[in-house]
Amino acid sequence: MFNFVVLPIALASFVVAQSASNPALEVEAIKAHFQQAGIVPAGIPSFDPSAVLVADYAGVGGASPGQALTRAQVGPAPAITVTPANSSVSLSGPFTLAMVDFGAVGSDQSAGVTRHWLVNGVTIDNNAVSNASAIAITQYAGPAPPAGSGPHRYAFLLFAQPESFAPPADFSQPNIGVSLFDINAYARDSGLGAIVAGNYITVEEGTATASLSATSAVETSTLAPVSTSSGASSGGSSSTRSSSSPASTSTAPGGGNANQNGAAAFTTSLGWLASSVAAFVVFA
Ligand SMILES: *[C@@H]1O[C@H](CO)[C@@H](O)[C@H](O)[C@H]1NC(C)=O
Ligand SMILES: *[C@@H]1O[C@H](CO)[C@@H](O)[C@H](O)[C@H]1NC(C)=O
Repeated sequence: MFNFVVLPIALASFVVAQSASNPALEVEAIKAHFQQAGIVPAGIPSFDPSAVLVADYAGVGGASPGQALTRAQVGPAPAITVTPANSSVSLSGPFTLAMVDFGAVGSDQSAGVTRHWLVNGVTIDNNAVSNASAIAITQYAGPAPPAGSGPHRYAFLLFAQPESFAPPADFSQPNIGVSLFDINAYARDSGLGAIVAGNYITVEEGTATASLSATSAVETSTLAPVSTSSGASSGGSSSTRSSSSPASTSTAPGGGNANQNGAAAFTTSLGWLASSVAAFVVFA
């Protein structure tokens, strides 16, 4: 109950705080979110970004990590912004941008993940992803998860694309429709470099029919490199964790609310690290 009261406030404060005062901290936060959401290591083996990626959907604004959005909201392609963690990170491209569906937490990915967007050769111009000289292998196709299959995790991944990049034959031509593929095999076989930035949203259709088990929250202690862990903090943050224990952030199993990611009520001045730390539902 508590969560449902808190969530809109938390998300609202995120949207306002979006213009991201502290990209280094947000890079650490998204790393923690990818771990906590099970995207790492089940979806991608590792994730060590050097920039903050934000998907900005019309009428929504910049989505916070794991933010629950509706199919209608994510129908048209978002604008993507990428902000380096600090001034020593260079974002000279080109890059490959992908959006894939990692399904609900714990779902079987052995047949691959659905490719919703795959663009080679994007560049970053004033923090905005530009496709001016890009090739859309798969044009953006909005999420459409099956009803009752739970909150699907749609991840945006920006890969470094070195000069030696050579796509496999079946992904060398533009306008290939949405289908299952192995994102890791694609990255490896085509010679893509590291994932320099990423983020994810969730979209759910209907009410999950699977039974839901306990949730867990992002541990701020994993963000120690930028001084946010309690006790060790010297960063001057005046954070107040008004709801920090996993128990207090769990969503009632089978509660049927679209916001099954819940929201830990971290009311702080730290932008979306603080306001969007979410509890993730695990399917038994
Ligand atoms: C800049 O950010 C990168 C990526 O997060 C990090 O590895 C590096 O240590 C940072 N450099 C400085 C000077 O803070
Ligand atoms: C580039 O972006 C525009 C606007 O989002 C889109 O209409 C167009 O199809 C994109 N082109 C490629 C090659 O991705």
